[in-house]
Amino acid sequence: MTNSKKKTEKEKFYLTTPIYYPSGKWHLGHCYTTVYGDAIARFKRMEGYDVFYLTGTDEHGQKIEKRAESAGVSPKEFVDGLVGEIKELWSALNVSYTKFIRTTDDYHVKAVQKIFKKLYDKGDVYKSKYKGKYCTPCESFWTESQLVDGKCPDCGREVQETEEESYFFKLSKYAPQVRKLLTETDFLQPESRVNEMVNNFIDAGLEDVAVSRTSFKWGVPVEFDKGHIVYVWVDALSNYITALGYNGEKESADMKRFWPADLHLMAKEIVRFHSIIWPAMLMALDLPLPKKVVGHGWLLFGGDKMSKSKGNVVDPFILKERYGADALRYYLLRAMPFGADGAYTSEALLTRINSELCNDLGNLVRRTMKMNEQYFAGKLHKGKESEEDAAIIAKTNALYGAVKQDMDAYRPQQALEKIFDLVGTANKYIDLTKPWVLVKENKTARLEQVLYVLTEAIRVIGVLLLPFVPETGEKILASLKLAPPETNDGLIYGNVKSYETVALDALFPRLNVEKELEELEKLASGSKAENEEVKTEEKKQVNEQENEYITIDDFFRTKLKVAEVVACEKVEKADKLLKLTLKVGEETRTVVSGIAKHYTPEEMVGKRVVLVCNLKPRNMRGITSEGMILCASEGDKLVLVSPETAIGSGAEVC
Ligand code: MSP
Repeated sequence: MTNSKKKTEKEKFYLTTPIYYPSGKWHLGHCYTTVYGDAIARFKRMEGYDVFYLTGTDEHGQKIEKRAESAGVSPKEFVDGLVGEIKELWSALNVSYTKFIRTTDDYHVKAVQKIFKKLYDKGDVYKSKYKGKYCTPCESFWTESQLVDGKCPDCGREVQETEEESYFFKLSKYAPQVRKLLTETDFLQPESRVNEMVNNFIDAGLEDVAVSRTSFKWGVPVEFDKGHIVYVWVDALSNYITALGYNGEKESADMKRFWPADLHLMAKEIVRFHSIIWPAMLMALDLPLPKKVVGHGWLLFGGDKMSKSKGNVVDPFILKERYGADALRYYLLRAMPFGADGAYTSEALLTRINSELCNDLGNLVRRTMKMNEQYFAGKLHKGKESEEDAAIIAKTNALYGAVKQDMDAYRPQQALEKIFDLVGTANKYIDLTKPWVLVKENKTARLEQVLYVLTEAIRVIGVLLLPFVPETGEKILASLKLAPPETNDGLIYGNVKSYETVALDALFPRLNVEKELEELEKLASGSKAENEEVKTEEKKQVNEQENEYITIDDFFRTKLKVAEVVACEKVEKADKLLKLTLKVGEETRTVVSGIAKHYTPEEMVGKRVVLVCNLKPRNMRGITSEGMILCASEGDKLVLVSPETAIGSGAEVC
């Protein structure tokens, strides 16, 4: 079988996953889209495609602006501190992206300005007034009729009444074309998402969308009207073309080569933006439309979407550290049926590692390599086939075609099922042919052929596992003294005529499930405390927005004390931060505070301030900050809150 494209006629494949909000708390649910994309990118590369796999970060918006403000740093400083972590996550999970775009990258900002201007010049963007509801966490505008019980239909949180002058994009003009695209082509998959989009949005009437904001600053400024910034979704969606060098005016080489995208991959809640607003924007820009949008399901935890604000996140760094990248990749890719939600449980993760990776796959490879070494010093040659070999050979030959079919339909879960079906068949073949009996009976030629048949099946399995679990695929091939092939050529029985194999260590260590569950529970309670903190912080923001009352008990959960500043210095490379050494009664604390624009270090020494003592310590610029000092602010003015007359440090504020 020679299905791979010859080097000279390489076809392109442009694949994108969403660009992530730099939230700073990455959970396993976040990993799914990008690992899914990586399996497709690797598979396509193996098929000889010239793959461009794009990912990145979505760094503008009111949410980021607010969080940066509470952290006392500029939005750019805030996002700079978080982008490294997501890159670390992708590298920990062996994600082989081609390019990482940040929406704060200069070329992207400039290109978004040009795109906005182009839409304006064409008359598809016009100025008017927006009056309606806005959900800040989702950065989404809603009409009254779209709200569910008066709340955001996506996240269920309160929305804010918003009234601002705004630019609008003429989405209504493109409604008939978008409807056609969704209902008459297979642009959007799975089919169930098409129904969601048509019933919930298109049939409800596509209104023009507000595409600029004036009530905050952290975004791409509209070039010709500086008080406005471009709506964060217009900014974010444009990344798919700005990353290729599109700037609204000139076509770049990458744009010519890779656009339109072959696949935009994402979870279901953002399909609306990708299958309605994005195609309409492209139509307005006179650009070709992406070939496919796939909206996968959610990874659920305890029946709910795994999400930071729900406090049910599972830390991928912890799981990677304990079980390795491949175990996690395998679990994610195997646990989620196409388009549907999948529930995460630690039991399911550990059981899959033990039964499928360690027992079924690991034992097959280890046993075979051990027998190869024991009986033939690892040297095997193709022999005469017998009837017993027919079924496994047929399955080995059919595997690539079956996996390709699933991967062409972007269904990695089904592809993995097929690979593991051959793993199962190979294990049964050992039981059927009983190599240990063949040894006793001195049937050396038959024994060699049985081991050769197994080794060939293992080669095909090893190669086809590379896109899903690359480290494992490589280990398997290394035990056959083969390098990962550059193409999928030769994935049939008999292609490698002789072997010199080497024994290998267990691919996956057997886990003590009970012990691991206990350990994970302990580790999770640490993360839970952190999640609680995030939840409290988010609730606090919502309360602030709604002016809700708190109870006296809520108030007294905050321990406030008078503290004396005994030393103070600037924090290096952070123009807003001061590092304070505080005396609180007998105790000494270090606190990092965003007041450097208002007070010099010299001014601060000797002052008495009010300290929030029971705030969870957090790391700021490499310094552990143990609390927060209170200030009052009005516009650009900021002053410290201090006791009116002298009172000892450590005195309670009540
Ligand atoms: N910034 C937007 C995307 C803009 S694309 C032009 C965004 N970012 S996100 O960080 O919130 O989400 C990134 C990806 O992770 C999205 O595909 C999102 O749907 C996905 N997931 C977040 N939580 C998830 C689960 N619990 N399960 C599966 N995918 C999930 O949306």
